[in-house]
Amino acid sequence: MRAVADLDVSGQTVLLRADLNVPLDGARITDDGRIRASLPTIGELTGRGARVLVCAHLGRPEGDDYATRAAGGPSLRPVADRLAELTGQDVALAADVAGPSAARIAAGLADGAIALLENVRFSPAETAKDDAERAEFATRLAALATRYVGDGFGALHRKHASVFDVPRLLPHAAGELVQKEIGVLRSLTENPKRPYVVVLGGAKPSDKLAVITNLLDKADRLIIGGGMSYTFLAAKDLEVGRSLLERDQIASVKAVIAEAAKRDVEIVLPVDLVGATGFSADAEHDVYPVESFPADRESLDMGPRTRELFAAKLADARTVFWNGPVGVFEFPAFAAGTRAVAEAISQVHGLTVVGGGDSAAAVRQLDFPDTAFSHISTGGGASLEYLEGKTLPGLAALEASVVAEPRQ
Ligand code: 3PG
Ligand code: MG
Repeated sequence: MRAVADLDVSGQTVLLRADLNVPLDGARITDDGRIRASLPTIGELTGRGARVLVCAHLGRPEGDDYATRAAGGPSLRPVADRLAELTGQDVALAADVAGPSAARIAAGLADGAIALLENVRFSPAETAKDDAERAEFATRLAALATRYVGDGFGALHRKHASVFDVPRLLPHAAGELVQKEIGVLRSLTENPKRPYVVVLGGAKPSDKLAVITNLLDKADRLIIGGGMSYTFLAAKDLEVGRSLLERDQIASVKAVIAEAAKRDVEIVLPVDLVGATGFSADAEHDVYPVESFPADRESLDMGPRTRELFAAKLADARTVFWNGPVGVFEFPAFAAGTRAVAEAISQVHGLTVVGGGDSAAAVRQLDFPDTAFSHISTGGGASLEYLEGKTLPGLAALEASVVAEPRQ
């Protein structure tokens, strides 16, 4: 895979696919981590005299056509403004994705300047399953530029036009963020220092059973907490009351537990839970051992003995991967479990990786400095799919050579 440092970009118009999919509260960005993580490549490109045309998605706009999606979906306007603040440069925002406004802005870019296309998912072809539909759109995107740099790590697992199809059409390279993220994932898969402990939380085992199965070959210990742990407890015939439960996953979870035992991989489950009367920040709550959880309560966090147990199971780790909060950390009363996990991981001497999305937001919201961990990934889904052993379409496209260069 070619690195951006080895791509001739001076005086070229570079289509930079970044992941600027930040959480928004109205038009306010609540965590600009992904924008900041994109700055090294943007800075490198502008510094080398490239004309930088950034392409990114925001949210999952819905509708059958461009007009409907653009009317109802989120504009990249707040992202353009934040990018301008962070780079100290003007950032023009095109009024469309690959239409007349984008063409005019691309043609007018000066060496070292930055512009942003509107939300690429306004175009239904971006996410189309149909190869020809995506390819046609990719050709129009590629016509805006003469080079392509893939730096949207968090979207590499998507077979989307701007991620998968455009790099086939332009001389391309991987950006700094993609190189760094892939480097970290390689250290997790190739020869990790042991014990290698994986902490998995988040809502659903169905999202993570594939990665768990793959990790049984690699990790020494799996700590399972939060929403997905209730299905594991139910698989052990324990009462979980009204807690999140994927009943249809119980059989698969039992199979995973049996397989782990066979391979001598330790699975650590909660021993006590914080049972609340409902899902709200001020719900009444008490601590219950998992053996006597009340049928009318809902677990929103890990109890104190579980926090100690999880910390103890992390204390000797030399490699840690963590994906998914272990409680409803957005509510301060139910953040103790996630805080305890973050705290324990921050004490580990070794490679510690926080995997994307919610866990990254959690550690920032709980005021852990980024330096408390070796690496905070910008992509949850992408890192999980990599660890599952799947081929990431966007990575495969960056590794492949150009199929056909479009006419300029
Ligand atoms: C993310 O937020 O995980 C990435 O930006 C990818 O977005 P998606 O899950 O909507 O494809
Ligand atoms: Mg995602």
